[in-house]
Amino acid sequence: MTYLDNPFTPSFGEVPVHLAGRRQIVSSILQAFQSERRRPELTALLSGARGTGKTTLLSLLAAKAEPLGWISVETTARPGMLDDIEIGVRRRASHLLKKQKTANVAGVDIAAIGGLSFHAPSQEPSNWRSRMEDILDQLEQLDCGLLITVDEIDPNLPDMIELAIVYQHFVREGRRVALIMAGLPHNVSALISDKTVSFLRRAQSFKLGRIADIDVNTALVRTISEYGREADPAGLSSAVKEISGFPFLMQLIGYRAWDISPTSNSISASDFQQGIQVAREEMESRILEATYRELSSEDIRFLNAMLVDEEDSSIADITKRLNRSSSQVAQYRRRLIDAGVIGERKRGVVGFDLPYFRDYLINMTC
Ligand SMILES: Nc1ncnc2c1ncn2[C@@H]1O[C@H](COP(=O)(O)OP(=O)(O)OP(=O)(O)O)[C@@H](O)[C@H]1O
Ligand SMILES: [Mg+2]
Repeated sequence: MTYLDNPFTPSFGEVPVHLAGRRQIVSSILQAFQSERRRPELTALLSGARGTGKTTLLSLLAAKAEPLGWISVETTARPGMLDDIEIGVRRRASHLLKKQKTANVAGVDIAAIGGLSFHAPSQEPSNWRSRMEDILDQLEQLDCGLLITVDEIDPNLPDMIELAIVYQHFVREGRRVALIMAGLPHNVSALISDKTVSFLRRAQSFKLGRIADIDVNTALVRTISEYGREADPAGLSSAVKEISGFPFLMQLIGYRAWDISPTSNSISASDFQQGIQVAREEMESRILEATYRELSSEDIRFLNAMLVDEEDSSIADITKRLNRSSSQVAQYRRRLIDAGVIGERKRGVVGFDLPYFRDYLINMTC
């Protein structure tokens, strides 16, 4: 019995064997990495609900940037992220950069004191911006750019604002820098409404919505066949329908279906059915619970008002049910669309976008 390796990646931020969709985002950013003239895509904001592939895209873009002449540093928004970036770039570019000297104060080696560091022999004071400028000067001489990626945008983090402000100076100075940040939609919109970083409103914004069924189908077929198996056509189409364009679910269903009969050279319709069942339970603990916790009580009231309808709901009906003004309802609607929980079906009509969330809410209210 030979067990074939399971190629699916139902984890977090793991670049899949075949990326479904997202071609336009990837190609426009890669084009910017290669362009002689500075293109706006070098400052990009990716926003999407949980499991839509933000971290994955950041990793993929960072990996693809390097052969195109960019040093890339991947970071997550957290206190100390500026240090992470500086240390990261020194490591990644250690073969290109001159060695940093440390100052010697009273016989003790000190590289940094209260945000300032002193470099022997001149003991010139420096801060994060000036140290990064030194690094960028050296990279520029080698025709090398610097890409910084920031995951899990946190608009309340002072380091995040500091990074954006200093980055703007780098851009104005004509340096070869790129900043690609990703986060949940409400965090991205809170960041761009911060007055001190208003230039981010002009950044290229990419919304990671649902992926077209045809792209999910292609990625599934390629992944399965490249790893030596076939997929039953009916089973495959039921999986594609169930996935409904949600990247994490594609990996989860693929992974579970693969493991049902791992020694067979094909994945049968029944394997897919069983895989779907297991994946549905896992979605609840890994995506739905976290999404629910992030909603406000007004958001939940809005969603509960949608449950009255068998399928999609009209905004006019929801407004009546909630007994709120149209502008308040419009605000909740926008927030829930941004969060990837619901989507607009046609003008004035919305439906659930996050797979299984409707059933999850029904169970919560029972
Ligand atoms: N375009 C895609 N095609 C196929 N699989 C994908 C795609 N994007 C992401 N995935 C898979 O989905 C999983 C979840 O993606 P990822 O962790 O990047 O989501 P996320 O948006 O960062 O979620 P979170 O908000 O929870 O951090 C990954 O392990 C990855 O393998
Ligand atoms: Mg992520």
